[in-house]
Amino acid sequence: MQIAVLYGTETGNAEMLAEDIADHLSDHVVTVTNLADFAPSEFDPRTLYLIVTSTYGDGELPASAQPFGAAMAAGAPDLTGIQFAVFGLGDSEYPETFNFGGKRLEEMMVAAGATLLGERVTHDASGDDMADDLAYPWAEAVVALAEPALA
Ligand SMILES: Cc1cc2nc3c(=O)[nH]c(=O)nc-3n(C[C@H](O)[C@H](O)[C@H](O)COP(=O)(O)O)c2cc1C
Repeated sequence: MQIAVLYGTETGNAEMLAEDIADHLSDHVVTVTNLADFAPSEFDPRTLYLIVTSTYGDGELPASAQPFGAAMAAGAPDLTGIQFAVFGLGDSEYPETFNFGGKRLEEMMVAAGATLLGERVTHDASGDDMADDLAYPWAEAVVALAEPALA
């Protein structure tokens, strides 16, 4: 299966996690791309998209995902047939906007017609879980959900 891990980051946590997820899914063909270098027109229905993003500011997308978010808003792309899943990095020290970055990206993708596989996972930097420990089973479950269509 062709898998693209797209990450949005400000200080590198989401990038490290994206690389770890790609290593974990090494049975597949996996690319890792910063959302800063990805345009909505590049989505391909033969690829499964795993989106990993943090949250910054007042519940905003991190800096590297902001151009993508702006392009989604401006371009209103039709993403029917695109399968994706979202893993959010956040911190419950920001209770009003906890993990809003991932929530925003999920909402944008669904509004554009893409299909969410599984449920968005929310990592808490102030919690006990390591991001990798949540992300590996999440990624495996999403791949299993996508497999019939994309294998
Ligand atoms: C200035 C600042 C603002 C933040 N705002 C939020 C927020 O509103 N909601 C949230 O859930 N996490 C927030 N966070 C936590 C980050 O999303 C979290 O630390 C994440 O792991 C950072 O990942 P990154 O290095 O990939 O950007 C904030 C962190 C900083 C430093």
